[in-house]
Amino acid sequence: MSKSYKIGVIKGDGIGPEIIDEAIKVLDAVSVSQGFNLKYEEMLLGGSAIDETGVPLPDATIQGVKKCDAVLFGAIGGPKWDKLDRYLRPESGLLGLRKEMGTFANLRPAMVYDELINASSLKPEVIQGVDIMVVRELTGGIYFGQPRELHADKAFNTMVYTREEVERIAVVAFEIAMKREKRICSVDKANVLEVSQFWREIVEEIAVNYPEVELTHMYVDNAAMQLIRDPKQFDVILTGNIFGDILSDAASMLSGSIGLLPSASTGKGVGLFEPIHGSAPDIAGQGIANPLATISSASMMLRYALGEVESANRIDDAIKKALSEGYRTGDLGDFDAKEIMTCTEMGDIVADYASR
Ligand code: IPM
Ligand code: MG
Repeated sequence: MSKSYKIGVIKGDGIGPEIIDEAIKVLDAVSVSQGFNLKYEEMLLGGSAIDETGVPLPDATIQGVKKCDAVLFGAIGGPKWDKLDRYLRPESGLLGLRKEMGTFANLRPAMVYDELINASSLKPEVIQGVDIMVVRELTGGIYFGQPRELHADKAFNTMVYTREEVERIAVVAFEIAMKREKRICSVDKANVLEVSQFWREIVEEIAVNYPEVELTHMYVDNAAMQLIRDPKQFDVILTGNIFGDILSDAASMLSGSIGLLPSASTGKGVGLFEPIHGSAPDIAGQGIANPLATISSASMMLRYALGEVESANRIDDAIKKALSEGYRTGDLGDFDAKEIMTCTEMGDIVADYASR
């Protein structure tokens, strides 16, 4: 009997449904050709969950994801729900889901496809060969710290990390670095924040167990500048929740479009795989979204959650082939483009190449 996996599918809002449909198309194509079986179970999160159930993270989703082998997620949010209280907004559904699933380690690769070297706003010589892994702490820091309050005359949040939280994310980063170029740059704001000083000390402690890995530290403001000035200096970037959020958006532009980059969130149990971009309500429903970040996230899911490495390689190669043949979605502009395609057409091409 062929292997079978259960995949939780959260389409979400905006372009979420369009890009997820293409990722599933590609997953189906490789799973058929590689002889395993994927069963999908759709779940609600974000704005669409608010519309249907009144809350951004329904209980059925919390229970449902626990029964899956992995979860593939599109994007959430949109102007329709922007005026709601924070607890009822789509974003708090996603943050709650990450917390519930215990996915504390968010891996965000930023690589440059040679085929798209001209699509970036940076010079080719600055970005050629860039291959960075941002390891972002995902379930702690200022996103979750208590107390947090909003009043008419003042508001505040708390940036807090415990020893356990820093240790476990540092271990993830060092393990990844061991499989790469063995260089970690830990990014913080230790010249101003106690929480960053603490972060730095603990990362130093973990480093003792990995003598082969070269560890450096950088302040986040400098890191933002260095990412644009000379991104090739980075191998693994280890950082906290909010700094990782900001730096991974910046790093995405090295590749030419935020529509290209996937992410994997892992931790205690089931992993969550999602593009790093948002729901892009301005282009939703027009069929022009770039599905490649989501297709790439599906590839990370096969590789890291299901161990279907051959299929993941096939998808990655299919994306490269589509790009090298000049197929582009609109966000990539017409640089070296043979044809500007819709979201669905791009999914068709990648599915076809991945299954050959
Ligand atoms: C991301 C997003 C989320 C985050 C939002 C939608 C809550 O920007 O995944 O990077 O800030 O983590
Ligand atoms: Mg973000």
